[in-house]
Amino acid sequence: MTVKIITIDGPSGSGKGTLAAKLAAHYQFHLLDSGALYRLLGLSLHNLNLLEKLDSELTKCAEIAANLDIKFVTTETGILVQLDGEDVTQTIRTERVGEFASKVAAIPALRAALIDRQHAFAQEPGLVADGRDMATSIFPHAQAKIYLTASAQSRAERRVKQLQGMGLDAKINDILANIEARDKRDMERAVAPLKPAEGAYIIDSSSLNIDEVFNLMTAYIEQQLAN
Ligand code: DC
Repeated sequence: MTVKIITIDGPSGSGKGTLAAKLAAHYQFHLLDSGALYRLLGLSLHNLNLLEKLDSELTKCAEIAANLDIKFVTTETGILVQLDGEDVTQTIRTERVGEFASKVAAIPALRAALIDRQHAFAQEPGLVADGRDMATSIFPHAQAKIYLTASAQSRAERRVKQLQGMGLDAKINDILANIEARDKRDMERAVAPLKPAEGAYIIDSSSLNIDEVFNLMTAYIEQQLAN
């Protein structure tokens, strides 16, 4: 039996994380939140004062990337993320760590150092892989490839709500500027830029709610997995 792989790529705030988790629960598949790996690496390199020395200390940084001590622990309330044994579930979701992640994600050697770890998530019965380059680079043979996008404005509004729900302060204009800057960096980088894979099913979620997107996705996935 081959492992079934569903990839969901797209910009931040498109609803990928929520939908990927919902799909993994629905199909009882494993879940790869690849953005969390870049966030963990960004945080780790920041903690070690290496984030400003990515070029001069690249070999050391790549070694750290390949050997990150991280754990995803499934609990009744969600997935806890640990770095070096410490709970960083909330910390890695901050805008600040998002910036760290975007910096490390632009470095080819650091992306390469995370490839094996991502492949290791592909286990039976299947995997939902959430990221930017899941279909274009990491799992090019995935049976179902989805590209989920939404306008920058609607993504910024959702992000503000999400941060406020976590008790964090958030200003729409700051968030929108961050989203636009990060999109630009993610789409224009030389290695694994953010773009839909050939043949991907593209969904614009700007005016759709989660259930509507979920229904579109499951209809597409079931058709793909039946082939
Ligand atoms: O999805 P996210 O916001 O948690 O991702 C954090 C950063 O990592 C974002 O700048 C894009 C980058 N990323 C990437 O380059 N490739 C991935 N597969 C996932 C995330």
